[in-house]
Amino acid sequence: MFEAATIGGQTLTPARVCAPMALYTHSAFRRLLADLGGCGAVWTEMLAARRLLSEDFQTSPWLRRRPHEGLVVYQLMARPGDPLERVLARMAEQGVQAVDLNLACDAHNIRAMASGSALWDDWEGMRRVVTQMRAAWHGWFSVKIRLGHRREGWQEAFRERMKFLEEAGVDAVVLHARFFEDKYRRPAQWQWIPWAAALTRLPLIANGDLQSAEQVQELREWLAPARAIMLGRMAVVCPWVFAHWGVARPVDYAAVWNRYCDYVEEDFPPRLALRRIQAFARYYELHFFYGHQFHTTLGRLTTVAEARAWAGEFFARGPALNRTLLLGGLR
Ligand SMILES: Cc1cc2nc3c(=O)[nH]c(=O)nc-3n(C[C@H](O)[C@H](O)[C@H](O)COP(=O)(O)O)c2cc1C
Repeated sequence: MFEAATIGGQTLTPARVCAPMALYTHSAFRRLLADLGGCGAVWTEMLAARRLLSEDFQTSPWLRRRPHEGLVVYQLMARPGDPLERVLARMAEQGVQAVDLNLACDAHNIRAMASGSALWDDWEGMRRVVTQMRAAWHGWFSVKIRLGHRREGWQEAFRERMKFLEEAGVDAVVLHARFFEDKYRRPAQWQWIPWAAALTRLPLIANGDLQSAEQVQELREWLAPARAIMLGRMAVVCPWVFAHWGVARPVDYAAVWNRYCDYVEEDFPPRLALRRIQAFARYYELHFFYGHQFHTTLGRLTTVAEARAWAGEFFARGPALNRTLLLGGLR
């Protein structure tokens, strides 16, 4: 399932893509993912639109892109009044092929900037931003959404927005099948995917709690109307998940860890590198029995060298592996 799809003029092979994850889907992670076999497309972390006017696309770990990364979708956090024509013109000059607008993030700081779910709520503002982006950008343009607010009338609000997005000419909708209020406390509501897909001609990319070929197969009744699927947390826990889709292959956990650290050190200054390594450890620990020690100990260390030395000893001890990976409320 989801072997290939053409969306927004781009062919995704496979039609399994990596979600935007703030702190995680930076250039070093994308490079690692590509080395391990890649996927159909990978989203950047959300990027404040205005900042793209001054950031260096060759050196910024949020923006730089190596050729073997394949299709990279640059996700914008935008709000009404942002100089989107100039931002998108600069992105085109820099060879960006695909952009996505975040209408899904419900974090307090993002809402405070009138972006993410606050832009979804702001009907006029959302129309303005989407229309402006579509007029200024001729490549792939997707939007990432959720189901909306868990309250009466959500279906009407959702339907109205889908109709607008289709009329505005976006190329695809990524649906994280949860309500804003759900955070990660409730499981994804896949049962709404066929309903959402039937509302529009736009290709839908389904997202939320997806983990493996077997699980996706089990959910086929709900996922089938989607054109592609997107994995977030599972792709960070197992950057090889796309390459090993449906086939169990051995993994050298220490080698993947070391390569991640090498790439982070290459792209980030030391203080930020340490933070990225510690963040990755929170996800990578899921593989190991007593894995929480892996991330809590690493979290207390103050230099990359210390973190790498400690992790080296951890792997040298041959840590026992968990048989199943439970994402649970991980976020
Ligand atoms: C740490 C973290 C950072 C995230 N950052 C973003 C982001 O920058 N933009 C976005 O649209 N969604 C973001 N998300 C949401 C994911 O893209 C995805 O929709 C969500 O995790 C559900 O998919 P999953 O169950 O496969 O992880 C983030 C989620 C997490 C846990």
